[in-house]
Amino acid sequence: MAAFFEGFSVLFLGITLVMSSCMVANCGNFYQDFDLTWGGNRAKIFNGGQLLSLSLDKTSGSGFQSRKEYLFGRIDVQLKLVAGNSAGTVTAYYLSSQGPTHDEIDFEFLGNVSGEPYILHTNVFTQGKGGREQQFYLWFDPTRNFHTYSIIWKPQYIVFLVDNTPIRLFKNAESVGVPYPKKQPMRIYSSLWNADDWATRGGLVKTDWSKAPFTAYYRNFNAKTCSGSCTSSSTKFSNGALQSQELDAYSRRRLRWVRKNFMIYNYCNDYKRFAQGFPPECRQSRFL
Ligand SMILES: *[C@@H]1O[C@H](CO)[C@@H](O)[C@H](O)[C@H]1NC(C)=O
Repeated sequence: MAAFFEGFSVLFLGITLVMSSCMVANCGNFYQDFDLTWGGNRAKIFNGGQLLSLSLDKTSGSGFQSRKEYLFGRIDVQLKLVAGNSAGTVTAYYLSSQGPTHDEIDFEFLGNVSGEPYILHTNVFTQGKGGREQQFYLWFDPTRNFHTYSIIWKPQYIVFLVDNTPIRLFKNAESVGVPYPKKQPMRIYSSLWNADDWATRGGLVKTDWSKAPFTAYYRNFNAKTCSGSCTSSSTKFSNGALQSQELDAYSRRRLRWVRKNFMIYNYCNDYKRFAQGFPPECRQSRFL
């Protein structure tokens, strides 16, 4: 009986710790962690730093960036995307270093007319070179609720996650001559802007300005950086995956599920575009 209660109170303590660390210190305060960089009062922080919003109208979009730079780690944020008719709008959320040989890890959410699906567009730049697009539909309506979008960036690989499900794995392919982001620290950037020349059905559907302003919301930002070894175990992502060189079996299964059911474009399958031969990292990315 005593053991039972002891177990219970340890569990209770655990829950309290997780909750309080998330609510007070760790789970970011937008005032502390970010600067609103453009769009004037179209970018706002409220609820004492717990909530951030970006909006877009005919005159301008808006954006923010992190104060800190990161070199490896796990970065999570919850996002609620522009609701209703969001056609023509793009909400970008990405990590990037600076300069002509910069590295970049991108999430871009391409809006759509009401009731039609957003596209989640992803890309990875290394040493200034991108062109590694993968696109997905989501398995939920990203405008109804907040969902968690995460990047795990390790020396061995980069994983993109949606609600803790891996959607994309970019492996370190230096062994076949592909540069890998591992030296340049990156900042977090986000912006909401008009891209109706390409975003929705390839630019066919234009932004309906009578519905402006368009607004997206952010909360629960959380960054865990790896000092040195990059084997933090305090993560919601399965520990095996953070510690080992490879994703664990469960994560690989989830990734295959996403690729099978929700992936709509993969540059590594674009035979027309790469008629002269695929980029070297594609050989690995076909086998998970
Ligand atoms: C918008 O909806 C159309 C029709 O369902 C779809 O083909 C397209 O992929 C959707 N998303 C975007 C961003 O164009």
